[in-house]
Amino acid sequence: MVKIAPSILAADFANLQSEVQLVDQAGADWIHIDVMDGHFVPNITMGALVVDAIRPHTKLPLDVHLMIENPDQYIESFVKAGADIITVHVEACRHLHRTLQHIKSQGIQCGVVLNPHTPISTIEHVLEEVDVVLFMTVNPGFGGQSFIPSVLKKVKQLADLKQQHGYTFEIEIDGGVNKETVKECVAAGATVVVAGSAIYGAADKEQALRDIKEA
Ligand code: DX5
Ligand code: ZN
Repeated sequence: MVKIAPSILAADFANLQSEVQLVDQAGADWIHIDVMDGHFVPNITMGALVVDAIRPHTKLPLDVHLMIENPDQYIESFVKAGADIITVHVEACRHLHRTLQHIKSQGIQCGVVLNPHTPISTIEHVLEEVDVVLFMTVNPGFGGQSFIPSVLKKVKQLADLKQQHGYTFEIEIDGGVNKETVKECVAAGATVVVAGSAIYGAADKEQALRDIKEA
């Protein structure tokens, strides 16, 4: 069963508790939290304080997507705030293997994220370390952008490698996912899909989540 991770980036920030509980009750599997620093990406969003604020209101795994420079500096504070999974961008990590081990040493799951232009050869040698590989199907920085279908070639390549080697990591897709594009994601090998505006931008958010799950 493919997991669905609503991105709270598209939620009503003045009502985060009810926005998180709404998707939790509608059948979400993870809660996706987009952390942006205004350096790695041209936008600033939220930090560990928001993770800490959400933590008491759901038992679902909190999937923290760090779109920041120097992720190592902030890992402990996100773990303390209640993150269950932390993913870091390969483009932001000079010592990727060390950063992944740093996350795992805190007793949580680690993952690596690839921008649309980044080849999977850059992560080949950490595939045994990771719990999640996240493919960006938009350029990171903003919600509500259009899906970039050419990324699916990479997803297929990695899904093949995963099968050949018997790896167990999740393949997550983030950006422009809706009830149409989700079908191609799953066909290519995605096991987790993130959706922000397709859920939180809908008039009926529960129904929008269920539509994506059913598709
Ligand atoms: C983009 C973020 C995504 C974003 C997805 O930089 O990483 O998680 O919130 O939003 P939608 O689903 O609206 O593309
Ligand atoms: Zn994200």
